[in-house]
Formats: sequence, C-alpha cells, structure tokens
Amino acid sequence: MSQYDEGLYDKLNNYVKSHIYPFHMPGHKRNVKSGDSPYAYDITEIDGFDNLHHPRGILRASMDMATTFYGTRRTYYLVNGSTSGILSAISASTTQGGTIIMARNCHKSVYNAVYMRQLKAYYVYPKNIEGMSMSGGIHPKDVESLLDEYPETEAVVITSPTYEGVSSYVSAIAKIVHRYGKILIVDEAHGAHFSMHEYFPSSAIESGADIVIQSVHKTLPSLTQTALLHVCTDVVDREKVERFLSIYQSSSPSYVLMSSVDGCIRGIFAHGTQIFDMYVERLKAFREKVKTFTHIKLLDKSILGKSAVYDLDLGKLVIVINSKRYTGHDVYEILLEKYELQLEMAASDYVIAMTSMADTDEGFDRLYGALEEIDRDIRINEGYGASENTQGDRDEELKQQNDAMQQKKAVVCEGIYEAMESEHEVVNFQTCSGRISAEYIYLYPPGIPVVAPGEIMDTTIIEYLLKCKRQGLDVQGLMDDSLSKIKVIKEDWKEFDYGKNILPDGKKLIGEGYHI
Ligand SMILES: Cc1ncc(COP(=O)(O)O)c(C=O)c1O
Repeated sequence: MSQYDEGLYDKLNNYVKSHIYPFHMPGHKRNVKSGDSPYAYDITEIDGFDNLHHPRGILRASMDMATTFYGTRRTYYLVNGSTSGILSAISASTTQGGTIIMARNCHKSVYNAVYMRQLKAYYVYPKNIEGMSMSGGIHPKDVESLLDEYPETEAVVITSPTYEGVSSYVSAIAKIVHRYGKILIVDEAHGAHFSMHEYFPSSAIESGADIVIQSVHKTLPSLTQTALLHVCTDVVDREKVERFLSIYQSSSPSYVLMSSVDGCIRGIFAHGTQIFDMYVERLKAFREKVKTFTHIKLLDKSILGKSAVYDLDLGKLVIVINSKRYTGHDVYEILLEKYELQLEMAASDYVIAMTSMADTDEGFDRLYGALEEIDRDIRINEGYGASENTQGDRDEELKQQNDAMQQKKAVVCEGIYEAMESEHEVVNFQTCSGRISAEYIYLYPPGIPVVAPGEIMDTTIIEYLLKCKRQGLDVQGLMDDSLSKIKVIKEDWKEFDYGKNILPDGKKLIGEGYHI
C-alpha cells in the first residue's frame, strides 16, 4: 500500500474507532454528542445568517451574548484561531514600523505580527524554573524597566498562561503598562476556561488587560480553530481591531465553526457551573491520588511565588518524571504504545496531559492506572532513593543545555522584517556560529522561537538544537529541517583564525568569525 492509498477521512475514521484516549487539544475531547454531518451545516452568508465581518443579525446577537457573558467591551468570534486574534490585536495597537515590548516566550504569531508591521521588538524574558526545562512567569519589574528604557513603545504583549499553565502577575503588569499609557495585550490562548471556575487562575480579562485572546478550541468544547478576541477597555481602537480582523480572517468564515463557538458559550452560560464543578472534582481527586506516587509528580502550586509564577492552571497536568531510566519522551511513548493514551506533548523531564470539562471518569482512571504502573516500575528498578528531578542519564546533557539556553538572551543584530527581507545565503548549520540567522528556529510544540531572524547563531544554540533533533524533538522553521543547512544574511564574512588571535582594527569578533 502506498502512502497515497489512504485518504485523510479514512485515516480519521479508523482513528476514531480506536481505543486511544485524547489527553490533548481540542477541549471537546471528541466527546460532544452529535450524530450530524458537518456538511449539512456548512453554508455561506445566505439570507438570515448574517456576516461575521459586518454582523447585524444572528451573529451580532451571538457575539453580544458572549460580550455579556465575559463582561468585556466587545468580544469577537475568530475562525482562524488565536493566531488571527494576536495578529489583529498587535496590528491594531501599533503603527507600521513602531515599537513593541514582547515576552520572549510568545507564540510565533506574535513574531509574525512584528514581521508584518515591521516593528522593533524588545524582549522581556520569563524567569527560569530551576531544575526544569520550562519557563516561569514574566516579572512586572522587568516590564517596567523596559518601558523606562524604551518610552517609544506602543504596546506590551505577554503570554499568560504558558503552555504549561504558568500565569504571570497580570494585574500588576497591567497597572504598570497603564501608568506608561500603553496597551497591554495578553495571549491567553490556553486559558479560555479561566473565567468558568475559581479553581483556575483569574483571567486577564478581569485583571486589567486591554486585549485578551483565547483559543476556545484548546480547553473548552469547541471545534479546532475557534477562538475569541476580547476588547476589555476603551483605550483600544475597535475600528482598527475590526479592520485587521477582516484582513487576517477568511472572507468565508465557516458556519460549522461559528455555530460550534456559539453553542459552546451558550452551553456553558446555561449549565456551566454544574459541569465545571464536576470537572474540578475530577481534577482534585486525580491530583490527590497521584500524591502517593514516589517518582512521578504533578506540577503543583508549590512553585507559586518563585520564578515570577503568580498562579498555575491545575487543569493542565504537567507530569514530572523523576527517573534515571525514563525521560519525558520515553513516558510519552509508553503511554501511547502500551496504554493507548495520547498526551499533548513531551519535554525532556515532563509530559503534558491536557484536560477539559469534556473528559470522562474513564479517561482519568486510565491515566491514573498507567502512571501508577510506570511509577512502580521506576521504583522497583531505581529504589526510593532517586532524588527530585533527576533525569534519565541520556538526557542529562540536554538538561544542562536546556538550563544554558534558558539563561541566554538573544543577540539581536537586525529586526525580524529587515532580516527576512535582506539578501540571504545558505551555509552549513553546524558551522554557522557567528552568522546572523535569516530564519526562525523553534521547537514544536509549542512553537516558541529559539532563534528569530536577525539573531546571531552561536555554538550553544547550535549544539542545543542538534541535540534536540537527535532526541527526536520536532525542530521547525528552517527550510532544511534535517538541520544540515541554514539561511543566513549575506554579508562579508571571514573565518576567524584563532591561531593568530588578531582581529583587524575596529572589527567585532562574534563567535568563530568576524563581520567585515
Ligand atoms: C501560547 C499560544 N498562543 C497562541 C497560539 C495560537 O493558537 P491557535 O492555534 O488557536 O491559532 C498557540 C497555539 O498553540 C499557543 O500555544
């Protein structure tokens, strides 16, 4: 059978018949009862069905309902994901060629907005969580320092919560940003459920942000690509937001998607309290049971107050593996192959299971049973003595490199737009230290750039990425994803002769060569 013999529909059809349980997005978990064919509901802007880009009828009423529900100035439905909301929010809050302060751990859509609006971007770096390969929060003081340094800034963009559920102190950041008269945009793609129950962190909507973007599809029962853009204050130019929404979104928005987000919000409006109470009880019970494990732990609120972590989404199960034998990637594979549990992602020292109100008791029980067996297996083979956060020996080197990467600040030579539009050449990846990248390099998921165009490559970055690739992580963004070549900015360049150790006068040594 060739790879062309099986159509996507056939593959999906076989997949849904399997026993694999989804601990990943979308938040409906394939558990919303509907026997209807999407084809039957797939219409266009016919009479009586309004127009998303000029809503006057049923879509206006539906978005009015969402606006009331969330208590915003205006809530917009998105059919091109949070991606289109982020592009629109940033474009509407800046001028072409303007200046932005953004968290370095922002999603690639923020970087793409910087490219398209030709913005000058200054990075605020999240704090590191010691001993783990994940970032903490954004410290309000770091935002303040940058606002002091760059008064020309028009908007500040942060991601809260992160992919791992870490929330920053958004209300403090909002106060600072407003004191400087700027706009705060919060990418809350992973927090669409925050307003639904007090068990979760408070939403940026209630914390003073000006624009908040949420992927409904990630943590609520709605179809993939559905998202919301909330305008929360009057400082935002709504006309400009609407202009960019109509630029970045399809002119044929899907009624299947729009009815899904409408139905999701309507359903939660009507029955949310009861359903969320049940979901929270499941989470609490699961977290309580897992406390008896010796080597597998769930990330919990003990990290609050450190590394600028203000709050944690307990709906994200960040399963930390303390083992010399198994890495996060090993556990991810075991859960899939042996237990038919598909998790959201794997890192070197943890895996993420995404949960939602649509999960079932059976799903939680299966995950608990699998983790209990793996924990016992590690205990039998490694004893009780394994220290906290020890990792598989095979991953120790990657862990050290992770730590080194987390401490690093990008060396930016050119803006993203300038770097992408300038003349390029292709060179060997392994020996590109000192060259200026013309490409993004990021690990997927979650798609946060390790390198953005215009930044200098060095040996720490090169070795880290090669190691990630060898570990089976998905390194994306480069035109050559085998990591043998990279596109760099064309410039006069000389290999540095370390033997002579002399640089021509006034030339800057960077890495293993110098720019002429
Ligand atoms: C933090 C963050 N922001 C934004 C997005 C984009 O969301 P969407 O897939 O809804 O376009 C993602 C997607 O993974 C994300 O992780």
